[in-house]
Amino acid sequence: MIAAIIAAAGSGERFGASIPKALIQLGDRTLLEHAISAISSVADQIVVTVPAGFEDQIRTLVGDGITVVTGGATRSGSVRAGLAAINGAEFVLVHDAARPLATRELAARVVAALKCGDVAVIPGLNQIDTMTVVDKEGYATATPDRSQLRRVQTPQGFTLKVLQEAHSGAGDATDDAALVAKAGHKVRIIDGEERALKITTPSDLAIALAYLGGAHSFSTGVGVDAHAFATGRELWLAGLHWPDEVGVEGHSDGDVAAHAICDALFAATGLGDLGSNFGTSRPEYAGASGVTLLKETFAIISKSGYSISHISVQIIGNRPRIGARRVEAISTLSAALGGVEVAILATTTDGMGLTGEGKGIAAIASALVIKSA
Ligand code: CTP
Ligand code: MG
Repeated sequence: MIAAIIAAAGSGERFGASIPKALIQLGDRTLLEHAISAISSVADQIVVTVPAGFEDQIRTLVGDGITVVTGGATRSGSVRAGLAAINGAEFVLVHDAARPLATRELAARVVAALKCGDVAVIPGLNQIDTMTVVDKEGYATATPDRSQLRRVQTPQGFTLKVLQEAHSGAGDATDDAALVAKAGHKVRIIDGEERALKITTPSDLAIALAYLGGAHSFSTGVGVDAHAFATGRELWLAGLHWPDEVGVEGHSDGDVAAHAICDALFAATGLGDLGSNFGTSRPEYAGASGVTLLKETFAIISKSGYSISHISVQIIGNRPRIGARRVEAISTLSAALGGVEVAILATTTDGMGLTGEGKGIAAIASALVIKSA
């Protein structure tokens, strides 16, 4: 049998909210509800320690299956109150409501290590910053070897016996492992999780939100295309027909701006490139217009959960002059991509290179995309 105590009785003074920290909302749930969901898959009994006066409210929030008890004046006092409500178990996990994003997998790894025979198991992360010990006057007195330090997290797991023994006095520490180690037991460290960060101040909540919103990861891509002028061909560029201009070579309509944008989108999403998506193995796309390829690309990346934040494309060549038709081109490209923001720029290259010599047109595009969950 595995029991779990969730320490949620703190007031969250450093957070500075008018409600207990465990009741702060993170995404669609409170910190406490997140913490419970990380533990519930491994625990047979869950005891939550809550601030005095919030028992009924939290009982309603967490439901009947969970034991709610009034916490103590310190975290260790709260854990002792939780221990008193455990009905008997082989192992106990102690978890902070303030670490809402610890995963079920982490809880399962703690339990697995206990089952392998350790009496105390805690997650820890490497210490990245140099640490120093400061004296009362504010001077650094020692620099402990960083490689021997770990940032300790929860859930922490113990045999019930060892945790009860460690708490048999009125000892106070910021975590249970410290008391267990002080009682002479070996504490095993396993790999922790960055996402199991402790919410102490509002800025920590912003970091936690970013984890939740894996939903909001951004990526960028660049795409390039160039074609040489070919007499007798119509010019298509940036989704528009340019009736008075010489066209360019190519099996498709040769719209370098549209093609560069497609490749930028494929680069940003890691979904191949123009050739792999519309190349010779897909004869239905032979001769497809730039706008058709943009629409298809948009459909492909949307299906994989991406949306577009911004597109920019720079057309490089002596002609045509883009300026007069920029607005028209922007609205055509934007419409093909579901109405996103598009910027179109144009430049010449001072007489140098393929396009400077007047032999053709090139385009470089960049795309910023967002992965939605
Ligand atoms: N905790 C508790 N009982 C206490 C104090 C803290 O159960 N008397 C819990 C908190 O609810 C939190 C965890 O212990 O989930 C870690 O404590 P901390 O992050 O320090 O939370 P608070 O004590 O609430 O915050 P602060 O120190 O800023 O007041
Ligand atoms: Mg505290």
